[in-house]
Amino acid sequence: MCDMLSLRVIVVDDEKNQREMLAGFLNLKGYSVSTADSAESALELLGRKAFEIGLFDMKMSGESGLDLLRKAKDRNPELQVIVITAFGTVETAVEAMRAGAFNYLCKPINLEELLELIKTAGERHFLLAENRILRERLEELEVKEIVGVSAKLKQTLSEIARVAPTDTTVLITGESGTGKELVARTIHRLSPRAAGRFVPVNCAAIPETLLESELLGHEKGAFTGADRRRIGRFELAIGGTIFLDEIGELPAAIQVKLLRILEERRFERLGGEEEIFADVRVIAATNRNLASDVEQGRFREDLFYRINVVNIDIPPLRERREDAMPLINYFLQQTSARLNRPTKGISVAAKDLLLAQDWPGNVRELANAVERAIVLSRSDILDVDDFPQLRPLARDTETEAAGTATLLRDLEKRHIEKILASTGYSLQQAAELLGIHRNTLRQKIKEYQISRPSD
Ligand SMILES: Nc1ncnc2c1ncn2[C@@H]1O[C@H](COP(=O)(O)OP(=O)(O)OP(=O)(O)O)[C@@H](O)[C@H]1O
Ligand SMILES: [Mg+2]
Repeated sequence: MCDMLSLRVIVVDDEKNQREMLAGFLNLKGYSVSTADSAESALELLGRKAFEIGLFDMKMSGESGLDLLRKAKDRNPELQVIVITAFGTVETAVEAMRAGAFNYLCKPINLEELLELIKTAGERHFLLAENRILRERLEELEVKEIVGVSAKLKQTLSEIARVAPTDTTVLITGESGTGKELVARTIHRLSPRAAGRFVPVNCAAIPETLLESELLGHEKGAFTGADRRRIGRFELAIGGTIFLDEIGELPAAIQVKLLRILEERRFERLGGEEEIFADVRVIAATNRNLASDVEQGRFREDLFYRINVVNIDIPPLRERREDAMPLINYFLQQTSARLNRPTKGISVAAKDLLLAQDWPGNVRELANAVERAIVLSRSDILDVDDFPQLRPLARDTETEAAGTATLLRDLEKRHIEKILASTGYSLQQAAELLGIHRNTLRQKIKEYQISRPSD
């Protein structure tokens, strides 16, 4: 992926010998090397030429290597800088690392170590650059419909950006309501097939007997009831994308047929002769664990490998809780707009309630909860009462009950003590006043360890 030999290195050192030795060595190893003898001239050079790697001596007359490092990283955060420090000046190295250096080398420089560091620095540079390019592409493509801020969702987004431009078959996995179809549609929209159709097929919803004609279409008279030609989903998707949803539910007989189409990329309508070329991109989705279905013989292994070329696994919402708040805001806005209502707000307590949920039905369940509340609430601000179906915030009821019991016992004890004192510790009178039997009072006195003050 990254051609190490095209790496450009800038060597900055005010000592001529060292500078020329390093430059000569790296040149010999195939790197493209430029040199500078001061921080000032290095900055000038960095301003007009692109570099992936910097090799900066920390101790230079004039502006220090550390200042140079800061300025260079400021201008180009992707530049990977290896700093060279004198033996025994670890503090400088630590400071340099804090300022964003990739790594450091102590003099005298071990050239093997230097090569190793430059190699890993190069890899790091390309990784950063690639991430930035993906990010830019995503921004350019405006994936506004997929909301979220978590690292896990970002990962999914970058996978989308990576596969979208290709024709690769993609298997999208994830629990119910995590956004599998949304991701499939986004991949299609960002692909060169965007002008073609996105054709969803719910493999679980179509009866087995109809599935084949649904997928492939049929000619008139192909079977009883086939009174005219029907174009199947594969044919509709030519030039576009077919989305095989819930592929894990596909009956065994259809699995074989699908495998054939995917292998040969051609098919015939039922009862037809004509071979149709399936210029179709396939995206499949399932909330099942297909690998274990394969193990248990429920899903064909060969078909599994055919569709599981690239796997995008969307994590459940409870594993990326940071996404909940942006999603709530998004649905408040989007759903209000769709229902043609002014956008409602949400109280802090209701927010806390929503954020505390595990959302077994994931984003769909969250979206539905918000929609239901928007429809039913009379107020402009949604509150806890507008989400009656949700588990209330877990208060520690057990400790609370225990606390109350202690308080009551304490009150009772003090009350008994007061009454006893007022009767001069007459059990008979106190029991009467308290309205309890003398034996009960005796028991309580024992239990609460009430004793007559010894005065
Ligand atoms: N990250 C997200 N941002 C915005 N909307 C989302 C996001 N994820 C899911 N949704 C919305 O949540 C709903 C459910 O998503 P989708 O239908 O794609 O889920 P699914 O994984 O296919 O579910 P199922 O397994 O039940 O078919 C849709 O309305 C979708 O637009
Ligand atoms: Mg779905």
